Amino acid sequence: MIAGGTAPDLRTSPIPADAQAFAQVVKNGALVPAGMPQFGEFSSDQIEALRQYIQARAEVLRSGRADSEIGSAHKTGE
Ligand code: HEM
Repeated sequence: MIAGGTAPDLRTSPIPADAQAFAQVVKNGALVPAGMPQFGEFSSDQIEALRQYIQARAEVLRSGRADSEIGSAHKTGE
């Protein structure tokens, strides 16, 4: 941890819905002055994979099944 503080819940952020905006923030460091670190070491493909994961988690939240995990269909014994 560099300076303490908190990070927003990205499932309720509009940024991950926009691939360019997401890359600007995460890869290019657009919000560094606001305390969001720059992750320039990730490739564009990795950034896009992260974005899609966050979008999938946002969909679970919107569905009202926020306690279910992605991939839980593969678990047995509910
Ligand atoms: C130590 C790790 C991290 C810290 C401390 C951190 C901190 C922050 C902070 C303080 C903000 C708010 C900036 C503002 O007020 O405008 C922010 C926004 C954001 N962060 Fe991070 N972050 C971290 C990791 C990450 C990672 C790993 C991702 C992506 C995978 C990410 C994606 C974003 C996005 C997309 C926003 C914009 C959200 C919005 O404005 O709605 N962050 N982060």
